[in-house]
Amino acid sequence: MHTFKPSHTLQRLPEQFFARLAGKVQQLTAEGHDLINLGQGNPDLPTPDHIVEELQGAATDPTYHKYSPFTGHRFLKEAIAQFYKREYDVDVDPDTEVAVLFGAKTGLVEISECLLNPGDTALLPDPGYPDYMSGIALANAKTAFMPLLEENGFLPDYGAIDSDTLDQAKLMFLNYPNNPTAGVANRSFFDETVQLGKKHDICIVHDFAYGAIGFDGKKPRSFLESAGAKEVGVEMYTLSKTYNMAGWRVGFAVGNPSVIKYLNLIQDHRYVSLFGAVQQAAAKALIGDQTAVNDLVETYERRRNVFINALNEIGWRVPMPKGSFFAWLPVPDGYTSEEFSEILIDRAHVVTAPGNGFGKSGEGYLRVGLLADEDVLLEAVRRIDELKLFE
Ligand SMILES: Cc1ncc(COP(=O)(O)O)c(C=O)c1O
Repeated sequence: MHTFKPSHTLQRLPEQFFARLAGKVQQLTAEGHDLINLGQGNPDLPTPDHIVEELQGAATDPTYHKYSPFTGHRFLKEAIAQFYKREYDVDVDPDTEVAVLFGAKTGLVEISECLLNPGDTALLPDPGYPDYMSGIALANAKTAFMPLLEENGFLPDYGAIDSDTLDQAKLMFLNYPNNPTAGVANRSFFDETVQLGKKHDICIVHDFAYGAIGFDGKKPRSFLESAGAKEVGVEMYTLSKTYNMAGWRVGFAVGNPSVIKYLNLIQDHRYVSLFGAVQQAAAKALIGDQTAVNDLVETYERRRNVFINALNEIGWRVPMPKGSFFAWLPVPDGYTSEEFSEILIDRAHVVTAPGNGFGKSGEGYLRVGLLADEDVLLEAVRRIDELKLFE
């Protein structure tokens, strides 16, 4: 069979770091081992019933069997605006400040293609969600990394970025609550970010994928709550985590009208918007009963408490995550992230994601998803304890 050559664009795409780990998990599972896989970020609980029922009803409506309006149904954009008003007291114009997306991932990749020319620079969190780099590679642009260090609460230190880089940068990605560090942002950090964006003409993209998941009674702040945020950027939101709808592929961008226009433009050329019935169910999720969201956050908080306390009891000193559904575990001295992750897989059959897979500054950590029942999380700790690595 003839093998065609991929385009230069495809050849620029970064390698999938976690492919090797996934291969190993597959192999061990095929060999019959009972793995506890905490290495992924796929929500384990189902979509709330009332949202599924809304889809079931809407699926029979012949209106939705036709093409959807290119930029999405207006009722969904209105629901998004209502959601932002209710949750964050932020005013969003449904016509000019909302772009409906096939999941936040789509928008996070597209935005680089929308704003960057070849050779332009984008600022990225390190460690960070790998897909930001995919869009930058497709745009043939350059990356400049902002280390997220524990001593800075996993916030970037803007003072440490050299002024040439700041002048060259056109785009900056941020993400709080953070994947993978579980750090959260505060008001002054977002205010400072708006000022930085203004001063250096950088478009700020805040990835708010874990916006609903804050612990200890602290609701994560939206970037758009900071005065002037809409002038300098957009926020990407997804229904994947808040409503356990990762498979449904519904997300949206809100904020700066010019950026929203470009996102809609690129999508006009690539897709027709989501299945109308999915849009109706998404609107129901956003403006309907929110009890399930509160329950979900309580579930993650309980899991967090059980897991982190158990780790500390066996001698693994781990701080409490403040948001997201991840825990960011410091690797004991003498091991790299990959070495320690390998030991946990091989000898305890517990799968974690080595932190260096999310960037250089992730070295020295493992990421764990709190995406299993409490008894499974406790069993993982019990298996780790048996290795007697923390005495
Ligand atoms: C930080 C972050 N951003 C974005 C996404 C993608 O979300 P979506 O399912 O809406 O594409 C994820 C999913 O894991 C994520 O962790």
